[in-house]
Amino acid sequence: MIPFNDLRRQNQPILDELTQAALKVINSGHFVLGDEVRSFEKEFAEFVGARNCIGVASGTDAIQIALMGLGIGHGHEVITAANTCVPTIAGIAATGATPVLADIDPKTLTLDPKSVASAITPQTRAIMPVHMYGHPCDMDALTRVVNGKEITIVEDCAQAHGAEYRDQRCGSFGACASFSFYPTKNLGALGDGGAVVTNDNETAERIRALRQYGRADAYNHPSPGVNSRLDEIQAAILRVKLLYFDDASAQRCALGERYDSSIANDWVSPLVPSKWATPNRHLYVVRSPHRDALQEHLSRNGIATQVHYPIPIHLLEAYREFGKPDAFPESERACAEVLSLPLYPGMPGDDVESVIQAVNTFHP
Ligand SMILES: Cc1ncc(COP(=O)(O)O)c(C=O)c1O
Repeated sequence: MIPFNDLRRQNQPILDELTQAALKVINSGHFVLGDEVRSFEKEFAEFVGARNCIGVASGTDAIQIALMGLGIGHGHEVITAANTCVPTIAGIAATGATPVLADIDPKTLTLDPKSVASAITPQTRAIMPVHMYGHPCDMDALTRVVNGKEITIVEDCAQAHGAEYRDQRCGSFGACASFSFYPTKNLGALGDGGAVVTNDNETAERIRALRQYGRADAYNHPSPGVNSRLDEIQAAILRVKLLYFDDASAQRCALGERYDSSIANDWVSPLVPSKWATPNRHLYVVRSPHRDALQEHLSRNGIATQVHYPIPIHLLEAYREFGKPDAFPESERACAEVLSLPLYPGMPGDDVESVIQAVNTFHP
């Protein structure tokens, strides 16, 4: 079977460096909030092009803590996309704020600025663009929607490490941005991890306190917080991974371009990057009105695929209060049609060819 992803293959070429990095932390005897986390925070802030980075325990926590750091919680609304994955909603809801869904642009499968504009109420405090699949949202259009209002932008960059909107990296547009370092992400740890980035030093200080029980120093707690810290071993691993990020990213982009130029089938439409977008090819997504049959055909040909995501938020049992069926038609259509093909750094060329052949011979 051609795997959808292969983390062992991705880690193999740098196994010695990863092992040494972990060993160094084990021998240091210091496991939580030490030099590795501080160094990674500095390096990742530079990578994004933001002034501050605060390491936390996951991407979901990063969403929660970023919003808390901006004073968003009970009685407030945060607008995000109906086709996002559940943790975006879980992170917002964990603050006590109400997630409010908006529909997506069918070309980018990211937040539709017009739908966002119509979802704004006096309670709206933030919009959370999700750069789905590593394709940036239309940040200029979204910024125009909130201009002149007391509404901030908090980007969900869990899938968008290194992706650019008009040559500027995702994560550097809003008041804050959240990142996930879940192992399958473009920058992935060997376990859970996440980060908040922000240009505002005061927000960064609040977030630093919030991730550690709201503690400013040893016995001084100006506000309630949570326990959500990136640990030293994961930070050390991420520092090694960051050194190889550009190479891994170039491989992803080359694979994406190979698919773009070779997939030719009237029943299968790859997403076309917008002219202002430099996607990071986190996921290679095609649409087909016969998605399930396409997935079965690929499976019969020995190719593993995934669906990100089959059910929009408002049709999940847990979140039915956020919208009736047909409330967000573009999101619903996309969820019924999207299919992610295998794409990862180190994917063998023969496997790429097999995927292309199999996609091109599909007919419903
Ligand atoms: C769009 C999006 N937001 C948030 C998250 C949450 O990240 P984590 O799994 O690190 O909590 C993920 C990852 O699963 C994601 O893809």
